[in-house]
Amino acid sequence: MKTPTTLLVLSLLCLATVQAADTSPSRRPLTPDDYYNTQIVSEPQVSPDGKWVAYVVSTNDRDADESRSAIWMVSWDGTQQVQLTNPGHDISSPRWSRDGRYLSYLNTPAGTDKSQIMLFDRRGGEARALTTVTDDIQSYEWSPDSKRLVLVMEPGSPKIAAGVPGPPGAPPGQANPTAPNPANTTPKPADTATDVPKQPTDPGKGATPTAPASSVPAPATAKGATEAPPKPIVIDSMHFKEDKDGYLATGHNRHLYLLDVETRKIEPLTTDPAFNEDLPAWSADSHRLAFVRTREKGSDADAMEDIDLIDARPAAQLDDWLAEITGELAAYSRANPQARVAPFAVNQIVHSSNNRLEEDVALCVKHEVPIIITSLRPPAEVVQAVHGYGGIVFHDVINLRHAEKAAAQGVDGIIAVCAGAGGHAGLLSPFALVKQIREVYPGAIILSGAMSSGADVLATRALGADLAYLGTRFIATDEGNAPAEYKQMLIDSAAEDIVYTSLFSGVNGNYLRGSVARAGLDPDHLPEADKAKMNFGTGGNTAAKAWRDIWSAGQSVSGIHQVERVAALVERMEGEYAAARASFNF
Ligand SMILES: Cc1cc2nc3c(=O)[nH]c(=O)nc-3n(C[C@H](O)[C@H](O)[C@H](O)COP(=O)(O)O)c2cc1C
Repeated sequence: MKTPTTLLVLSLLCLATVQAADTSPSRRPLTPDDYYNTQIVSEPQVSPDGKWVAYVVSTNDRDADESRSAIWMVSWDGTQQVQLTNPGHDISSPRWSRDGRYLSYLNTPAGTDKSQIMLFDRRGGEARALTTVTDDIQSYEWSPDSKRLVLVMEPGSPKIAAGVPGPPGAPPGQANPTAPNPANTTPKPADTATDVPKQPTDPGKGATPTAPASSVPAPATAKGATEAPPKPIVIDSMHFKEDKDGYLATGHNRHLYLLDVETRKIEPLTTDPAFNEDLPAWSADSHRLAFVRTREKGSDADAMEDIDLIDARPAAQLDDWLAEITGELAAYSRANPQARVAPFAVNQIVHSSNNRLEEDVALCVKHEVPIIITSLRPPAEVVQAVHGYGGIVFHDVINLRHAEKAAAQGVDGIIAVCAGAGGHAGLLSPFALVKQIREVYPGAIILSGAMSSGADVLATRALGADLAYLGTRFIATDEGNAPAEYKQMLIDSAAEDIVYTSLFSGVNGNYLRGSVARAGLDPDHLPEADKAKMNFGTGGNTAAKAWRDIWSAGQSVSGIHQVERVAALVERMEGEYAAARASFNF
């Protein structure tokens, strides 16, 4: 819908120019001065209420020898024109927030070479900087709920240091997170305006060489002394150099970031160095983003352009959910003082690639989540934090060695994730693993894997477990937050349809054969994953699309025949448990 507006504003301006030319006393050839008198109008943006059009006016300043641009606004009927900014040397990209409250634009502050997002609050006041990034902002888009922006950023080569200091370890492209942007906590390798250019190692693999391949050997610097000859440059990728950017580095990539307008915090959304992401577009509910993914830089270009989807829920969503759960449970307890209210649990993946771990654990501490379930690394710091408010920690293991490590960290229970479990499962039989753990661990043992009925739960007690843990069965419920096709595939699949592979997350797990095939892969001939590429962070293992497109499930699918309400399922399982128990007379 922007095109007609663009045409309207541009044609109005052209008309004005033509009229001016027609009324001028005499026609004359263009002179160089005309170039400096020309005003170019671009990027018209209609306000959500349709009453205003914001646009950019660019001119060329002869004395400064640079182009200047400013943001203007014109009422839809053309009667009012307002200049919103002074001309600056790189002002562009005006965008309205969808609620019409803000008008944002890109501005490169004087003395710097990095664009920042500026924000006008339409209720009044000066424009304020929303970002202090040291990466290059290529583009940005408002979310439909007007709470966030998605940024497309690329780490630019550091060209200027003065005025934009950034401490080592600053978050993605963030110059000074402590002063103007206090909420920033995400660590990142140094990528600041004060970085020194990297030394050459292997440009084909991603370093920036200090001398081009064709450089002439340096002359002698002093009599008899010559500089060491430049190191040879090793190039082993086809797409290793690009105009303007020079040698392409691994990690010299364009990625998506989420910016929270209220807190001004930026979190990376995509991180895989093998890919570039661009052209993000929000879903109407602000929960997801579609974008284009390519391998165009820092790697061999394969000419593939995929359109992909990514979950863009903010970390704050967990805060909202926990407030809702604890609030409703407290209200229920007040209304039913005699009722026993079961504790609830939150899973935390304890892995270096989980860039949300610290923040998510802090939210669990804030809401005093009764049970935290951890997986992968033994969770010493999580145990300490959770014990601080009286909560307990259960840790997932798939073998005895992991169980011993977790016990040494003081966990309150060990989850034996056995053969046939959904998610990241093990290969050991529950008969073997529960026995092994019991021999060395006196605490609570929680048995998980392939259960779907009340009788299965009773069986865990016979094996010596204290609690049973079901996952897959509860996805096929009305309340399960999974696509309908996923739930149907759980019903349609049998235990034989569960594929065990490390391909999708770097760790072995169980997946529905149907979803693997639907993604164009051969479920019977899947390659092994590169463990170094494990990624449990915001962007996930994006290449593999685990959990979202490749659906996980355990062998309990054989016992799933319908989607039902959780309350109905639990009631039925209770009956099955009691019936199985009653059937034993010995
Ligand atoms: C789709 C899916 C995602 C899972 N994600 C996690 C997770 O993030 N952390 C975790 O500790 N366990 C995770 N699990 C494992 C479950 O918590 C539980 O151990 C397992 O589902 C039990 O086996 P079952 O699915 O056969 O009932 C996941 C399971 C499924 C099916």
